[in-house]
Amino acid sequence: MKILDFGSVCEDIVYSVDHITKQGETQASFDRNVYIGGKGFNQALALSRAGGKVSFAGKLGKDSEHIKALLTENGVDTTFFLIDPNIQTGHAVIQNSSDGNNAIVIYPAANRSIDREMVDRVLADYGTGDVILLQNEISEIAYIIDRAYEKGMKIVMNPSPYNGYIREYDLSKIYLFLINELEGAEMSGKTEKEEMIDALRLKYPDAHFVLTLGENGSVYFDHDTRIDQKAYPVKTVDTTAAGDTFTGYFLYGYFVENDIEKALDTASRASAISVTIKGAVPSIPRRQDVLSYRF
Ligand code: RIB
Repeated sequence: MKILDFGSVCEDIVYSVDHITKQGETQASFDRNVYIGGKGFNQALALSRAGGKVSFAGKLGKDSEHIKALLTENGVDTTFFLIDPNIQTGHAVIQNSSDGNNAIVIYPAANRSIDREMVDRVLADYGTGDVILLQNEISEIAYIIDRAYEKGMKIVMNPSPYNGYIREYDLSKIYLFLINELEGAEMSGKTEKEEMIDALRLKYPDAHFVLTLGENGSVYFDHDTRIDQKAYPVKTVDTTAAGDTFTGYFLYGYFVENDIEKALDTASRASAISVTIKGAVPSIPRRQDVLSYRF
């Protein structure tokens, strides 16, 4: 079984602010940092730092060799991480507030230049039983889902950010969803947790789900199984990439160790550690740090 993450990469320009800027307000930030991020990139890195073997497919623009190198140095296969010098690398403008929350605006750029020819080229290397991980920050997702499904791949979807593009996707082809409360509400039309779970089980009877609930933990469920996981208490500094860290660690436990309970627990520990550190990539812990951290 091979694991492919077909996703986004962004340069994250992070402004530290007192609070998330309100409509019509201007406020000065007291710090500015640039990190590498993007949900696809973060999740590939997290899966690799968890101990997994993963390939990343995506697109970068000019002056971005250092970004590709970072993923290679972290043990991720980057054969299909392409650089197009004629376009810009995607970037994100992130406000990180004093209470650890964030607000993100993405400029997709190269992430939305992925075309069907590239998709076909990448997927030619994959077949039945292989796993493909998708988020919602690149172009041609509907096409990727259809082709991967035809090939018998297990499709894992983190439908984030949740937006109008999702209406174009055949979500009945998804094997495993990783969603937060907001995405769960969009997908189910329910805001209360138990109603949400019931509605999602009904709507996608063949799918498996992980619902993350921030400080209220997480829940794994499918048509007949349910496992609840507590969150580990920490002081939140920056939530950026916490969900991505959870995803990478969970997928390692789920697909490589075949142990859902352990996968949920390790993913909860890893994402808790990630919110204590600023930035996306710097906050994704390595496996040994997760195992030795005392909560
Ligand atoms: O999930 C966090 C990521 O979302 C950030 O790194 C940013 O690039 C956006 O894609």
